[in-house]
Parts: sequence; structure tokens; C-alpha cells
Amino acid sequence: MKRVLFVDDDENLLNGLKHMLHRMRSSWHMSFATGGEQALLLMEAEQGFDVVVSDLHMPGMQGAEFLGKVCEKSPEMIRIVLSANLGAESLIEAANVAHQILAKPCDPDHLRNILARAFTLCERMKNSTVKTTLMRMGTLPSVPVLYWRIMEEINSPEPSLERVAQIISKDPGMTAKVLKLVNTHTAHKDRVSNVMYATHMLGLENLKSFVLMAELFENVKEDELSEGFDLDELWEHGLTVGEYARCIAEFETTNRPIIDDSYTAGLLHDIGLLILASKLPAEFDEVLAHARDHGSTLIQAEKKVLGVTHAEIGAYLLDLWGLADDIVKGISHHFFPSGDPDEMYTFEEEESFTPLTAVHVANYFCEEEAATEDYGKAELDMVYLEGLKLGDHVGHWWDLCRIA
Ligand SMILES: [Fe+2]
Repeated sequence: MKRVLFVDDDENLLNGLKHMLHRMRSSWHMSFATGGEQALLLMEAEQGFDVVVSDLHMPGMQGAEFLGKVCEKSPEMIRIVLSANLGAESLIEAANVAHQILAKPCDPDHLRNILARAFTLCERMKNSTVKTTLMRMGTLPSVPVLYWRIMEEINSPEPSLERVAQIISKDPGMTAKVLKLVNTHTAHKDRVSNVMYATHMLGLENLKSFVLMAELFENVKEDELSEGFDLDELWEHGLTVGEYARCIAEFETTNRPIIDDSYTAGLLHDIGLLILASKLPAEFDEVLAHARDHGSTLIQAEKKVLGVTHAEIGAYLLDLWGLADDIVKGISHHFFPSGDPDEMYTFEEEESFTPLTAVHVANYFCEEEAATEDYGKAELDMVYLEGLKLGDHVGHWWDLCRIA
């Protein structure tokens, strides 16, 4: 049975949660603690909690301190913050220790879905060699702060582009990156030097994905990276795949979420490489050497050496942070959409164009153009594309991406 621990100093709230989640009692074991100290005692007495949901503002031990201790004691537990008054400062505190941040009051269905998804993630981890790899990395990275501040604004009752631009302007590094993006990777002719205008051009969805990618790169310490790893190259590759995926998606559909998710999945499809190269540099060098010596693709070498691929690790992390299923799938299967039965993520066969289609093709185009001979190249999964009756679109997609 799945186990979750709720921590809040407000007993009424805990009773409310009990009531709200009553019908899950047969499949979830739920425990409740009225503070960090009590919760830690409970964790010692009853081990095996999968998920913890904690308030931030509590008398005695504060939520961030409590979650920090959880992270030390049980790094495999999924940590969710459920708190009111998430101002800029508390959000930073929360983001340092949490995999997900929810604002009170939380819609019951939303909370149930988040918990169900967290339990599925625990299950994926238990059933696969990915657990050993992720555990060797220490704790799973928590959510990048700026990304969550933008998410908070987007999820507010009246999201404002202007406030998002203000959040970004306060961070000079991010401002420079956003301006560079609009000036180099969009078809805009005049130079853009205003964040508000840049925000408008990119749109909230694309901007938030770009900020997530930029923060993940920023958090990497270059001197800890695997020697064979080129950070700039991965950054450029992500931007180009995102751009190509968006182009392909815009040609195939007018459905905005599919187009936006294609861009996001394209940007972030190789984020697992960044995690591997920074958290397990020695093992990653081994992967690179294996790929070079055997002429295999990175994915094949990762499976051989680590038992898990960068695609799976990236997908897992974004799944943990609550990104859309289509994005997770676009990442987990980007190199081989038909899928293998032994993968960490398995999905129903697709019947139409999705972000996965866009990312798979965009990544292939990009690798074809890059012409590096270090590792075996990506291949187009024609069986998958023919199954979607899109095999004959490839030539046109190429033309579109070449002029993008
Ligand atoms: Fe890639």
C-alpha cells in the first residue's frame, strides 16, 4: 500500500484532508502529524513513507527545515509543499527542498491527482534499475525557483504577462538569456532589448519552459561535469530541437497545447544528459567511452553501462515536477517512439501527431546536421511515422526546419 505523510500545524486542515481523501483509504495509507518534530518521530517509528506533504509555516520547526531533514534521512521520498502565503521568499525556501509546490487551498481533485502521480513515480522507480542510478546521485533535484515563481503567476486567477516580465527583469542573468533567445532563435528582424516585449513574443508557455531549461543549466557547476561533456553544445542542441519541434508541430496542427508542448519537450529532451554528466560524471565518462569504442548510440551505451537512459532520467525528473504527460512522453521516447517493452515508461500506441512525433524528428534532423562522428547517430523510426501515416511528411518538415 502507498504511504503518505501530511504535516501541518493546523488540525482543522489535517481533518479536512482526512475527509477530502477518505475514499482513497483502501489504497493509500495516510498518516498525519501536527509539526515537523512529530513527523520525524513518526517517520522513525513507521518507515516506508513514499510521499510527504508539508506546510511551510509552522511554529517550532519550519517546513523548509523539516523537509531538509526528510531529504537527508529519506532522499527517495517525494516532497510536496502545501502552503498558504507563498511570497517570493517562502517560494525560494520551498523550491530548495520540494519536488512540487501547491498553494492552499488546494482543489481536492488536483491534490488526489498529484498524489496518484507521485505514487506512480515511486512505482516506476521501484521497478527499474533507474532507482540505483538516481539514488547514487543523492537526492533528486528540487524545483528551480524562478520557474516556480512564473508558474505561480501563470496559475494565479488573473495571470499577467507584465508581472512575469517583472519577475524575469529582477534576474539579470535570466534577462540576458531571454533577450538572447529572442534575438537569435526567432525570425524577428529588429533587435529586441526589452523583457516585456520579449515575453510577449515568446508567450507565457514557451517562456516558462525556457526559464526551466536555463535554470537547470545554471545550477550545474562546470568543474563537476564529466570531462567529455560540452555544456554549450547541449544548450544549443536543446534550443535548436525546441525550435524545430515547434516548426514541425505548427505545420501539423493548430492545437496550441500540442505546439507548446512540442517546443518544451524539444528544449528539455536531453536534460537527463545534463543530470547524468553533473551528478554521475565518472559513470558518464564510462558511457561516452563505451559509445565511442563500440560505435553505439549514447542511449545504447547508457543502457549497457547504467541500465537506464538519459531520456528516462529526464522524463522522470520532469514527471516529478509535474510537467504535462505529453512532455514527459516526448522526452522518455524521443530516440525510439515505437518503444521497447522493458522501458521505465510505456505508453499506449499513438494514433496521431503528438509532441513526441515532433521531438523525435527534430532531434534526428539536428543530429544529422551536427555531423559529429563521436557516437552512432539517431535514426528515424519510420515504422512509427508510417503508423501515423506521416512518413511522407518528413521531406517537407526538413525544408521547414532548414529555413527556420
Ligand atoms: Fe538530442
